[in-house]
Amino acid sequence: MPAIEALSANKLDAISFGKIVQIREKLLKAQAGGAKVVRFESGDPSFSVPPHVLDAIAAAGAAGKTHYVPNDGIPELRRALAEKLRTKNGIADVEPTDVYLTNGAMHALYVTFGTLLSEGDEVIIPDPMWTEVAENIRLAGGVPARVVVDAEHGYAYDPDAIAAAITPQTRAIFVNSPHNPTGAVAPRETLEAIVDLAREHDLWIVSDEAYEDVLYEPYVHHSIASLAGDWAPRVISVFSFSKSHAMPGLRTGYLVTKSPVLQERIQKLLRCTINGVNSLAQWGALAAVTGPQDHLPAMRAEYAVRRTLIVDALSGIPGVRPFQPHGAFYLWAELDAPLYRKLGVSGADALSERLADAGIGSAPGDAFGEHCADAIRFAFSCSTEMVRNGAAQLRAALTGETRI
Ligand SMILES: Cc1ncc(COP(=O)(O)O)c(C=O)c1O
Repeated sequence: MPAIEALSANKLDAISFGKIVQIREKLLKAQAGGAKVVRFESGDPSFSVPPHVLDAIAAAGAAGKTHYVPNDGIPELRRALAEKLRTKNGIADVEPTDVYLTNGAMHALYVTFGTLLSEGDEVIIPDPMWTEVAENIRLAGGVPARVVVDAEHGYAYDPDAIAAAITPQTRAIFVNSPHNPTGAVAPRETLEAIVDLAREHDLWIVSDEAYEDVLYEPYVHHSIASLAGDWAPRVISVFSFSKSHAMPGLRTGYLVTKSPVLQERIQKLLRCTINGVNSLAQWGALAAVTGPQDHLPAMRAEYAVRRTLIVDALSGIPGVRPFQPHGAFYLWAELDAPLYRKLGVSGADALSERLADAGIGSAPGDAFGEHCADAIRFAFSCSTEMVRNGAAQLRAALTGETRI
C-alpha cells in the first residue's frame, strides 16, 4: 500500500467543505429518494434562461465554435461588457481589455484575491458574509478581517467600523451590495465614504456586484467604481451572469480592473486555471448582455412576491427576527432563546439540521462568519410555488405547529 497519507499540510486543509453544500447534498439525496423538499438552502434562480440566449448557444455549437477561445474572453463579449459597464454601471473609461471572463463570480473572486494579495495581507469583509469570500482570501494567503454588520443598523456596512479595523497589513476593503446573506443594499453615501477611506489609507476595493439586478423598490444599485473618481483604478469589480440572467450552471462571470500589474497576473492565473471560459457559455452570455433585458423587471416582480411570502411567514414568531431584504433573494433572520427553547434545539446550527431532516433547506448563521451564529438564512430563489408552500411549512415548523 503506498503511503498515500504522507502529505504535509496544505492550505486547503483549512478550507471548509461548505455547510450549505452539505445541506444541499442531504436534500438532493432525499429528493432522489422521492421526498418532497423545499430548496431554501441555495441561491439558484428558478427562472429559465431567455430563449435568445439558448438560441445563441445552439447557433454557436452548430457553427463549430467549440475550439479553444482566447484566455481572457472572446473579444465580442469583452467589447459588449465594456459597453455595459460604461453605460449601465457608469464606470468611466472601461476598455474591453480591462474585462476578464471567469468561471462565474466565484472564480473571479479566486482570481482577484490570487492576483492582489501577498501572504498575510488583510482584507476587511462584512460579518456575516457569503462563506466563499473568506475562503478565497485564505486560499490566496490573505487574512479576512471581519467587521460586524448588525440588525440594529439594517446590516449596513459602517465606514467608522471599517476604519477601526484598518491595520498596517490591510490591503483591501471588500464590498458586496446587494449583500448575501442579509439582502442589505449599500447607499451611495456609504460607498463614497468607503472610497474616501481607501484613498486615505492607500487601499484597494474589491466590489462584488453579483446581485446588481436583484433589487426591491425603492433601492438602487451603485457600482462603487462609478463613484470612486481618481480612485477608480484601485477598484476591482466582480460581476456574474448567474443571478442577472439566471444562468448559474453556465458558469460565466467577469472582473474589471484597470491595473496593468493585475492585468498581467490575471492573464497568467486564467491561463493556468481555466485557459478560457467555456466557448458556448460565452456566446450565450454575449446574447444575454446585448439582447432584450425585459426579463429583469419581470424577475424582480416575481422575487418581490416571494419576498413578501417568506417575510410574512417568519413574522411574529417569538425568537425569530427576520430582516426584510432590500436586494438579492435571501431572508436573514436572527434567532434567540424563546425559539430554541420551544423547539428543543441548542442553537441555529441544530435547527438548520432538524429542518433539513424535515426536508426544508436553510443555511445556519455560522456558515457566514464568526459573530452571527444565532441566525439563519433562507434563499427564496426557488419557484414561487415552492416558496409559497415552503414558507407555510416553515412557519408551522417554527411555531411548533408541526414537529420537526
Ligand atoms: C455574493 C456572491 N458573490 C459571488 C457569487 C458567485 O456566483 P457565481 O459563481 O455563480 O457567478 C455568489 C453566489 O451565490 C454570491 O452570493
